[in-house]
Amino acid sequence: MCSKADFHGTYTQFCSASAHSRLPGRKMLPSLITLLIFLFCTCGENPAVRFILTDKGLQYGKHVGAGWVQDKLGLITLPDISGEIPISIFGTLDYTLTGTTITKCDFPEPSVEFDQNVTGFKTSISGLSVAMTGSWMSQYLLIESTGSFNIAVFGVGVTSVLKLGKDADGHLSITCVICDANVGDVDLQVNGGISAWIFQHAVNHYKEQIRSEIEGRICSGVKEFIMNMEHHLEAMNVSFDVDQYVTLELPLTDLPDVNTSSLNLGFKGEFYSTRTHKDPPFEAQPFAVPQQPDYMLSVSLSEYTLNSASYGYYSSGLFQVLVNDSMIPPYIPVRLNTSYMGHLVPQLPKMFPGLMMNLQVYAREFPLFLFHPAAVSLGVLGAIKAFAIQPNGTKIPLFTLNVNSEFSSKAWITDGKLKGSVGMSSLTLTLASSEVGSFKTDALERLVRMGSVVAMMELNERLGNGVDLPRMKQAELVNTVLELYEGFIAISTDAQILLT
Ligand SMILES: *[C@@H]1O[C@H](CO)[C@@H](O)[C@H](O)[C@H]1NC(C)=O
Ligand SMILES: *[C@@H]1O[C@H](CO)[C@@H](O)[C@H](O)[C@H]1NC(C)=O
Ligand SMILES: *[C@@H]1O[C@H](CO)[C@@H](O)[C@H](O)[C@H]1NC(C)=O
Ligand SMILES: *[C@@H]1O[C@H](CO)[C@@H](O)[C@H](O)[C@H]1NC(C)=O
Ligand SMILES: *[C@@H]1O[C@H](CO)[C@@H](O)[C@H](O)[C@H]1NC(C)=O
Ligand SMILES: *[C@@H]1O[C@H](CO)[C@@H](O)[C@H](O)[C@H]1NC(C)=O
Repeated sequence: MCSKADFHGTYTQFCSASAHSRLPGRKMLPSLITLLIFLFCTCGENPAVRFILTDKGLQYGKHVGAGWVQDKLGLITLPDISGEIPISIFGTLDYTLTGTTITKCDFPEPSVEFDQNVTGFKTSISGLSVAMTGSWMSQYLLIESTGSFNIAVFGVGVTSVLKLGKDADGHLSITCVICDANVGDVDLQVNGGISAWIFQHAVNHYKEQIRSEIEGRICSGVKEFIMNMEHHLEAMNVSFDVDQYVTLELPLTDLPDVNTSSLNLGFKGEFYSTRTHKDPPFEAQPFAVPQQPDYMLSVSLSEYTLNSASYGYYSSGLFQVLVNDSMIPPYIPVRLNTSYMGHLVPQLPKMFPGLMMNLQVYAREFPLFLFHPAAVSLGVLGAIKAFAIQPNGTKIPLFTLNVNSEFSSKAWITDGKLKGSVGMSSLTLTLASSEVGSFKTDALERLVRMGSVVAMMELNERLGNGVDLPRMKQAELVNTVLELYEGFIAISTDAQILLT
């Protein structure tokens, strides 16, 4: 019914520090240096998650939105309108318009563009025309009458300028700063009884007022719509409990940045331990996402986000596990029994024969991710503490091994799935301390390396199968690509909105 043309009417160093100085060495740094870092780190808070909407995305959104409005217009019934028209010194004509529906409309494609001047959008539509029909009831000097009416509103133009901002809690805010509506002409025909004749005359007389009344109503409608949207934005959560261990904080860090080609939003993107609420001992580095005007939108994550998650889980005590014999898969030729340890730690079967063992495996530091154009590297500084268990349950500490390993992984998106692979770049095992005297660790290192290879084979099989990209009820991502850069990862994509 509403169509486009069927109507004929009328870290300073630490703020950009290398991986190694952020790693275990940190603990050994004298507190003076730590203090200096804080004094010189006037880096402010950099966003770790960036969202970019390109003009392509804006135009697509507008097109879908306009189509939706066009479909909906045909279905709406306008609220009743009551009013009074002064007829003469004898009184006024009280009227009510009810059941007003749109019978026809000419809805030209609106335009929308980024507006750098106000940090927002400028939208406009011109040449909109609407024909409506409904019934009227009126009362004049105790005479009640009813009938029908047809109204046509021609040449409606609406321009509005919407300003984006950020509130104190980091929500995106939107306000309508300019709304300008004009109505070219109004044509109203009233049918039915004698009152219709009076009504018609009154209407003709007040046509100019009706026209400006409609103009005013259009802008108050636009402002109400934007205020509604603002209330929704205000009510949105900026922090999300990911699981029982970590919370993700996603408030805006800066005012939205708008230029002629894109809208850029920067979000904090920090995970922290729900238990300790501690900020990680490193800062988000600034990063600039290359423009991708051929995609509708992009989301970029700094390595800070991943590392804050790593730190959050580490602080929640997640990166530790107690391994006992029943957890060792049968195909691994090792039993956690001191009598079987002779070829690894020769003195063990002699000192503590026939006892079961436990291994306390833990991360000595939080695992650290570094993003490079070629791959994501992951450094894990782990330790294994071995105990023998006496029959009455008493634990005898035996030795502690440090296991430093580095992994290199890749990630890509194909067929709507995120896939990846992991390889081990290095692994070294050293004896950190021993209650049973020293021993050579070569054989143990070979064993741990073998275990890691087996574990990674299983992991790679799962990563190779991939996980589906997030899918919403009303939108899906298409043409999605993932690219790695120094310090961050960017996902650029088109979207397909499925409105029903
Ligand atoms: C922004 O301001 C400049 C100069 O005042 C003007 O030329 C330009 O048209 C404005 N841009 C928009 C989108 O209104
Ligand atoms: C916001 O967070 C609170 C608490 O985490 C939760 O109860 C609520 O459902 C969330 N609201 C939305 C809209 O997600
Ligand atoms: C818009 O801003 C982005 C970064 O915020 C920049 O990369 C891009 O070149 C800018 N575009 C124009 C036309 O100024
Ligand atoms: C090993 O640990 C698991 C899980 O903690 C436990 O269920 C199992 O009983 C333990 N086995 C032995 C032999 O202690
Ligand atoms: C450890 O292995 C030895 C040799 O096979 C065995 O005699 C002993 O019972 C085992 N210890 C435990 C606690 O099962
Ligand atoms: C467990 O047994 C050992 C010797 O077998 C003994 O030295 C130790 O005191 C015992 N511990 C407890 C808690 O009974």
